[in-house]
Amino acid sequence: MISASDGGESATASPRRVVPSLAPPVPTAPSSTLGAVVLAAGLGTRMRSRRPKVLHELAGRPLIWFVLQALGPLRPAQAVVVIGHGADAVRAAVGDDVQPAYQAEQLGTGHAVLQAESLLAGRCAEVLVVYGDSPLIQPATLEALVAARREHDAAVALLSAVVDDPSGYGRVLRREGTVVGIVEEREASPEQRALREINSGVYCFAADWLWPHLRGLPRRGNGEYYLTDLIAVAVSEGRRVVALPAADPVEVLGINDRVHLAAAEQVMQRRLREQHMRQGVTLRDPESCFFDVGVTIEPDTIILPGTLLQGRTRIGRDCLIGPHSRLRNAIVGQRCVVESSVIEDAELADDVHVGPFSRVRGGSRLEQEVYLGNFAEVKNSRVGARTHMHHFSYLGDAEVGADVNIGAGTITCNFDGESRQKNQTIIEDRAALGSDTMLVAPVRVGAGAITGAGAVVTRDVPPDSVAVGVPAKVVRRRRGAEPAGS
Ligand code: UD1
Ligand code: CA
Repeated sequence: MISASDGGESATASPRRVVPSLAPPVPTAPSSTLGAVVLAAGLGTRMRSRRPKVLHELAGRPLIWFVLQALGPLRPAQAVVVIGHGADAVRAAVGDDVQPAYQAEQLGTGHAVLQAESLLAGRCAEVLVVYGDSPLIQPATLEALVAARREHDAAVALLSAVVDDPSGYGRVLRREGTVVGIVEEREASPEQRALREINSGVYCFAADWLWPHLRGLPRRGNGEYYLTDLIAVAVSEGRRVVALPAADPVEVLGINDRVHLAAAEQVMQRRLREQHMRQGVTLRDPESCFFDVGVTIEPDTIILPGTLLQGRTRIGRDCLIGPHSRLRNAIVGQRCVVESSVIEDAELADDVHVGPFSRVRGGSRLEQEVYLGNFAEVKNSRVGARTHMHHFSYLGDAEVGADVNIGAGTITCNFDGESRQKNQTIIEDRAALGSDTMLVAPVRVGAGAITGAGAVVTRDVPPDSVAVGVPAKVVRRRRGAEPAGS
């Protein structure tokens, strides 16, 4: 007999929430009787990782996020995640819309489902079980499984798949076409191992049959209670069991090691690439570009080879991104060019040109028609419209006006090595900085001011004046500037 351990876990909620509400925008199969259990307590020994398996990522999201996402459209009345290894981290990742059930000792998949009993028994007439390491499963497949169980009034409907390489999976045993059980690979005979119909680890149970029988599961030689043993139990009782082969076997890929993780990433990337292309984005070499879930790109933008679009990146229409660019949490307007460059946590307005070989870092905003690079770096700075910064320059903690020209090699010396503080540089509209100007912050270059090549600016430069030398001194008014005081 097995028992549910009392769920006295002390996980504290973390502010990092990666899973949005389970409520979908368009419910497809509303059901008030359906409960869902996601198993996510295992360490995932085969990953050889300190991180719990379900928190390894595909396309920028943890594996378990995809499973919960697939459950969303079924609108389960109650969703439970069984946690154990790395419980705090897993719980923080799944958010508050799913209830945690704590499995103190990982005694197998049967034991894991039992931990959800107190949260679901008496409340849900049917229980959908999904393993947290199967991120490619799609809502329609889950819906079909639930429908199949209802149609046949089965004790359990299980999702199977016929695959070329069944190694690592439990095999579905049939007698004269009818399912009679599941055998795990480690316990399978050579003939059974040759079977190519595998168990996906997705099941829909009649709740009143599940709970009492779960308690009766035998303990296996390895100390585990296998959920899969319930199939033979149901058959022996003369209850109906349905095995529904997945239309697309790729959906049932269970991730046990890094090789599986890479295979799943490929599938996920293929889905994302197709999604973007169908929405009007040109990918010149789809296979060389990688997208995180949640990235948005407007039509007629072209993505060139070797480009990574990550995090909450949003790209407007008619942009040319790449080749070989990485954008992470970047907001990009329309008609921008980002060539062989990196943009992180930054915004580009419309018609901005970055690159080749430039980096725009956190907290930066480049206004319309800014031209940056090659070899330019901008950090935590705002750069005004039409400002040009073509060659080998660095702006950090700067506020730059419109129509400024930043000469080659110009840098803000924003870090004070003595006080270890970052200081601000202000460059006002229409200033023109000569090549190799050093701006020793805090400092201000007034509107329309000019610095000579190699100037080391340690004090504010008044508007419309010309400052040269080391340290820079004002030598005259800018030609064409109005006389001072007028
Ligand atoms: C399991 C199935 C196998 C199926 C395969 C599909 C069993 C006995 N075997 O094998 O038939 O083909 O999935 O991918 O069910 N977990 C817990 N608590 C535990 C044990 C596991 O929460 O005590 C969780 C794991 O975190 C994981 C999931 O259950 O997310 C599956 O466990 P795993 O050890 O990966 O099972 P498999 O060996 O892949
Ligand atoms: Ca697995």
